[in-house]
Amino acid sequence: MYLTKEEEKMLSGEYGPALRKAMELLVGLGDVFGAEKMIAIESTQISGASYNNIGDAGMEFLEELAEIGAKAKVKSTINPCGMDLDKWREMGINEEYYEKQMRIIRAFKRMGIEISCTCTPYLVGNLPKKGSHIAWSESSAVVFANSVIGAKTNREGGPSALAAAIAGRTPYYGLHIDENRVPNIIVKLEFKPRTAFEFSLLGYTIGRIAPSGIPYFKNLGTSDVDRLKIMGAALAASGGIAMFYLNAKNLDKAEKISIDWRELNQTKENLSSDGDPDLFCIGCPHCSPQEIKELARAIKGRRVRRGCGFWIWTSRGVYEKCKEYVKIIEGAGCKVFKDTCMVVYPLQLSGYSHMACNSCKAVHYVPSTSGMKASILELNSILERGLE
Ligand code: F3S
Repeated sequence: MYLTKEEEKMLSGEYGPALRKAMELLVGLGDVFGAEKMIAIESTQISGASYNNIGDAGMEFLEELAEIGAKAKVKSTINPCGMDLDKWREMGINEEYYEKQMRIIRAFKRMGIEISCTCTPYLVGNLPKKGSHIAWSESSAVVFANSVIGAKTNREGGPSALAAAIAGRTPYYGLHIDENRVPNIIVKLEFKPRTAFEFSLLGYTIGRIAPSGIPYFKNLGTSDVDRLKIMGAALAASGGIAMFYLNAKNLDKAEKISIDWRELNQTKENLSSDGDPDLFCIGCPHCSPQEIKELARAIKGRRVRRGCGFWIWTSRGVYEKCKEYVKIIEGAGCKVFKDTCMVVYPLQLSGYSHMACNSCKAVHYVPSTSGMKASILELNSILERGLE
């Protein structure tokens, strides 16, 4: 791989051990994927911030990096961590877990990384420019960045996004190159999805049928940021999809598929468990201000059903902005947690046994991350079944 003089100095250790380590990782990655050079990046989004996921080994790795002087060169934010940094006791987290999670947070802080703790960094200040190169490692945010924002990123892992933050660059391959961003599947819809739940089912279905494709949705109809973010999360959960198109040219070589309600119903069935859910969740990906506002309207004047939990997940940035709505929601006995989510927090500590959510991504992961049952439900059913 071609390296500039500056990059060679970074790799040789002239600028210290942290930059050397970061460059070693990036050059190794670039060699594997046949990258011809490095490219400067505008921002990073770093996953692997939850103690529940990375454990002692990950925590010590981050502390060592901070200790040898690693510093982010570009705007960098982190994914949800393993607890609400303020309401952790309410979540059943013990002191030992709390302290270890805080060591992770302190290590990121020392490296100059923002403690955003969200999978929707684009809603809280990490909004890259259209056409810019970035290195993001949250799969739902990657899809959103490539498809909705128009930035360019591969699906990074936590360590490679962190290395990119320290070096300010990433290997130039994959979705950084325009020729690799051409849609190769035309999805013709025999229906118009309306709700976030239907967009999620659609994304999950396409991810299953064409796991490595770049789909173009020919006639998706009306969508908005919230629908596109939940669809992107589902596309990336059932497959390895990293981008989609709503408008596209260069479709000569694209394969055509047609989707109707039967496929979506099949997905729904596959993501349903026996028995009644007792924990109702909204916020995968993290709720936007608009979603919090709409939930407050729907929940106002009602109460959480006896024996059930109603938990909403968002970022601290959105939580701060929406305090008046949070008050209404919590007044009904629901909980609004920030900094974490149902998948990266040990959800089995909730004391419930069966989660229902309107997001296929959450339902896909919760059984393996917590051992709990999980079912997909439309938002209206969640409101009906979770509230009196
Ligand atoms: Fe975000 Fe957690 Fe869902 S990281 S996309 S809320 S699984």
